Amino acid sequence: MSSRIDVCVLDDEAAVAVAAAGIFAELLRRRPDAVLGLATGSTPEPVYAEMVRLHRDEGLGFARARAFNLDEYLGLDGDHDQSYRFFMQIHLFDYVDIRPWNTFVFDGKAADPEQECLAFEAKIRAVGGVDLWLLGLGTNGHIAFNEPGSDPASRSRVVTPDAETVEANSRHFADPAEVPTEALTAGVSTILDGRKIVLVALGAHKADAVARAIEGDRLPDCPASLLQGHSDCIFLLDRAAASQLS
Ligand code: GLP
Repeated sequence: MSSRIDVCVLDDEAAVAVAAAGIFAELLRRRPDAVLGLATGSTPEPVYAEMVRLHRDEGLGFARARAFNLDEYLGLDGDHDQSYRFFMQIHLFDYVDIRPWNTFVFDGKAADPEQECLAFEAKIRAVGGVDLWLLGLGTNGHIAFNEPGSDPASRSRVVTPDAETVEANSRHFADPAEVPTEALTAGVSTILDGRKIVLVALGAHKADAVARAIEGDRLPDCPASLLQGHSDCIFLLDRAAASQLS
């Protein structure tokens, strides 16, 4: 089957951020109580900076929005400076009018992580599903913490990130040995259930994963290629990330 993924190649990081934030802004203006799906990592940082600017300068409102995050490290408290909850607070939540009780990030310290995953899925169902997921991309093709080999039918669960992912993420930790070896993640199916998906990728180090996701076979060995099965998915890329597309 040919890929149904839409591709938009932009000049640079700033243009990608404006485009991605613009898609969220359009949704929020049309539907103020939209259900947002959010990602962490270096790539979404400028996207959140642009959302904050839209809130500050153009009155973009988040007061009725609900937000679910893709993943979290198991074992890290939300106050830990490398937790994804902390990331969301300092890059978005603390600077817009989203209500704290409408932000859902897995609790990395949950006493029962499996139950935490079931509760996350139940909360998404209770609000009628995610309208728009923002995704980043791992160099090995992972989405959230769905590593190569992930079941296309997978739901939220506890996973062990690949060595390549732990290595890539260790750049954020003072001591690489501190990178948690387990994580909670939305499943492939949890993501594919979203009504729209926007994946952002920046830089030449993502080019191979981008090409495999869009032009490769739709197989679990490149989890992002499973997005080919979604009817409303767009990749927003800078030129470097798009450089291996034919
Ligand atoms: C982590 C996250 C992913 C993210 C990826 C890429 O492993 N679990 O959700 O997409 O990193 O991060 P970056 O944007 O920093 O390259």
